[in-house]
Amino acid sequence: MFWKLQEDVLNRRDLDLLIAFIKSTSRFTQFKTVSRFEKKFSQWQKCKNCVYVNSGSSANFLLINALKELNKWTADDEIIVPAVTWPTNIGPVIQNGLKPVFVDVNLKDLSFDYKRLGKSITKNTRAIFVTHLIGIPANMLLINKIVGNRSIAILEDCCESQGATIGSQKVGSFGIGSTFSFYWGHHMTTVEGGMICTDDEELYKILLLKRSHGLARELPLKYHREIRKRNKNIDFRFLFLTDGFNMRNTELHAEIGLSQLERIDNYIGIRNSNYADFMEMCRKYDELILLKSKGVSSFSLPFFFKDQIKKRKFQKFITKHGIESRPLISGNLLLQPFLKTYYDPENFKNADFLHNNAFYIGNNQFVNMEKLRFLKKIMEDFFKKRIIYAKRNH
Ligand SMILES: Cc1ncc(COP(=O)(O)O)c(C=O)c1O
Repeated sequence: MFWKLQEDVLNRRDLDLLIAFIKSTSRFTQFKTVSRFEKKFSQWQKCKNCVYVNSGSSANFLLINALKELNKWTADDEIIVPAVTWPTNIGPVIQNGLKPVFVDVNLKDLSFDYKRLGKSITKNTRAIFVTHLIGIPANMLLINKIVGNRSIAILEDCCESQGATIGSQKVGSFGIGSTFSFYWGHHMTTVEGGMICTDDEELYKILLLKRSHGLARELPLKYHREIRKRNKNIDFRFLFLTDGFNMRNTELHAEIGLSQLERIDNYIGIRNSNYADFMEMCRKYDELILLKSKGVSSFSLPFFFKDQIKKRKFQKFITKHGIESRPLISGNLLLQPFLKTYYDPENFKNADFLHNNAFYIGNNQFVNMEKLRFLKKIMEDFFKKRIIYAKRNH
């Protein structure tokens, strides 16, 4: 058995649709298929506007960049971010010349330590960039309560948590903007790709402009007449309203997205059923800490060990048996060379704990009963041996 972190996720139907699409069109750059995918995704996510881009990282960058322009944020302005997330959740804050303010995580839903979050808000705080980590929804109601009526933008990185819910509401609908990744290891894929969702019309307009060089023609038709009138001496086709990038994606990737989106609920169902079985397996062992989160859209099967030496031994043991594993995303990001100047061991104890005591194995639509039974047996073997060993050395 070789249980990889992720399998080849494009199925026959995706490929057949893609081939048929290629044969049927001569237009491959962003066009009507991208718009159709955005529309379908906004129906699925229940939001007003979606902007399809070439990665989740681009989605994060564009969202911060657009909000900076919209709100005229400057170099002293602070964006609160967690110590455990993906590097390109933090990178865009720094790359946009803003100040990241790191807050430790909690060990219940893996989002912010909410007490510290409240204490980290200053008069310069402009946004809180929440990450819903490995499919577990952060407590958005509490975050909203902590923010109160202060004018602080709440942003959600849902790249690992598509379909996670709080009550009946999907994550990605609690702040002014949210981001998704369709990289192939995620809940659904467009090979590479990302989405930004927002109900805010002004933010939507800037995102459209910036995704595509700053070009006015990218805006919805209803705005064109007025803009033309204001800029009579410039050819409307080459009218640039702001500084922009090229973060567009292609018709081909959108076609895959449309195909994958049809199966996303089914995929999430399989992932969550695997996750429930996995949690049941873990329940037996005192050595493990269990998360008790609701509304999960499982990204992976995570292990949290009370003891880090046991964690290391177990991780080696399952590797020997053909199960691939990895750190919990990238562990404590403040230990990474590019962020180490922000690190202070006193303030990031939970992030350190996740760094040393946690890891995960893959969960996806290909994880089945056979694999889960295999894992169960491996866990029994490992923990039984350790009990015998512990008794012998008592
Ligand atoms: C939390 C989080 N944010 C952002 C990203 C970036 O997404 P992408 O790989 O599509 O650039 C990832 C990628 O894994 C992620 O896990």
